[in-house]
Amino acid sequence: MLIPKIDPDKCIGDAVCVAICPDVFEMGEDGKAHVINPNGCDLCDCEEAADACPTEAITLEEA
Ligand code: F3S
Repeated sequence: MLIPKIDPDKCIGDAVCVAICPDVFEMGEDGKAHVINPNGCDLCDCEEAADACPTEAITLEEA
């Protein structure tokens, strides 16, 4: 299983991750994405979200 993490120093609030995986990522009031369901990658395609992020802020770790 893959566990997604977001580097807040890299995130620029592009939000494509939320568009691809709304069950896993959510935009915070700080304008950055946050992981709301780290176990949710089986519900969507977190690898696509990580590839689509323009700043490579998303990393996926095998758990
Ligand atoms: Fe941030 Fe990348 Fe998502 S810039 S909002 S982690 S697509």
